[in-house]
Amino acid sequence: MKSKIKIAKKTLINNRRSKYTLPTNTKLYPAQWNWDSAFIALGYSNFNLNYAFKEIETLLSGQWEDGMIPHILFHIKDMNYTPNYKAWSCGKKISSSGITQPPILASVLKLIIERQKFSKKETKKYYPLIFKIKKCLEWFIKYRDPKLTGLISILHPWESGYDNSPLWDKPMSRIKIDTNLSYKRKDNKIVKASQRPLKIDYDRYVTIKNHLRKMKYDPKKLYYKSKFNVVDVGFNSLFLKALKDLDFLLDYINVKNSFLKKYILLNEKKLIKLFNSKKMTFKNKDLKNNSFTEIPSITNFFMLFSDLTNRSINKSLIKSLKKYCKNERYLFPSISPSHKSFEEKRYWRGPVWVNCNWIIYQGLKNKDKKFAEIIRKKTINLVEKKNFREYYSSKSGLGMGAKNFSWSAALYLDFILNR
Ligand code: GLC
Repeated sequence: MKSKIKIAKKTLINNRRSKYTLPTNTKLYPAQWNWDSAFIALGYSNFNLNYAFKEIETLLSGQWEDGMIPHILFHIKDMNYTPNYKAWSCGKKISSSGITQPPILASVLKLIIERQKFSKKETKKYYPLIFKIKKCLEWFIKYRDPKLTGLISILHPWESGYDNSPLWDKPMSRIKIDTNLSYKRKDNKIVKASQRPLKIDYDRYVTIKNHLRKMKYDPKKLYYKSKFNVVDVGFNSLFLKALKDLDFLLDYINVKNSFLKKYILLNEKKLIKLFNSKKMTFKNKDLKNNSFTEIPSITNFFMLFSDLTNRSINKSLIKSLKKYCKNERYLFPSISPSHKSFEEKRYWRGPVWVNCNWIIYQGLKNKDKKFAEIIRKKTINLVEKKNFREYYSSKSGLGMGAKNFSWSAALYLDFILNR
């Protein structure tokens, strides 16, 4: 175990460039990714606080003027990624993508400050970071819920972080693929094509992206005009937790925050409505045609992470989660193996992801200690046996995708060093 801790630290250091860390040291992802960096910063905080804060500062340095934190920052103009910085063609100081990713950074920063037991005075030193995160969460409300319904939309499957999840099959099936697409994928040359999204998925990703670009990424228009607009349970759960953690930090340093406090109540009320406790299922809402989809995805259980105040719902969620993984050897499959869309090896359509396990563990540890400990141990065992891979088969434990994957190393450290 000790040597694995060393290797985990080394994996992160090897993937580190001067101010930020790549998701992996292979050519698969040659830039800084938003939620990857948040997990990576948390990993660093277990052994090098300077690196942790540097990672966060660099991510925030790419924040747009309106408050959005892009999902990719292209610090180096590397053409070996599709779509590359030219294809996105945005970001002022730093070239970036024109969409965002789950705002996990707020929760990571709160955890670091809490664990370090920073005093009020010490925490105030980080006000510039906290302020930027506040601006980012306000951006979500302003532009992704302009009618103040209480639920946040995502406008591209890539924004969720679980790119080709079956959650998007229905909304994506209605996207008419542009006829003049010209792009060349590189991902399926580096990793087996059978473990990556399909061509038809990529055609649609690029079609939506091109359309966003055509509208100059104007956030005021995108909510109404984007070809894809989905209220996702998992994303909203991470958002609610981010709001609560930011609220905690603002209270701690005596910064008034009545708007976000109100939105927390509204968001929680509306999120709960997406859980059907009778059927024990969750509903995503497709705002393009006001329809609902119910897919058994592990991301639905991110609701546990948002620490709902309603105890009976938490209980139902845990019961439902136990059922979800009852027959599985390796936890958690990203999609329930009993569902027709499950694919053992294809990316977000079935494999186990360490970041999902970490999110669920954080949600469980103050609600069902015994179950949380099982998740912690099973994740540690899987990673120790199969190394820091991007994802794993829930059936055989087979490691797949990128090797030396940063967030698997970072969160392994966090699982081991922070009970
Ligand atoms: C893929 C994943 C996304 C991740 C990125 C970099 O796009 O789906 O969640 O942030 O790779 O690791």
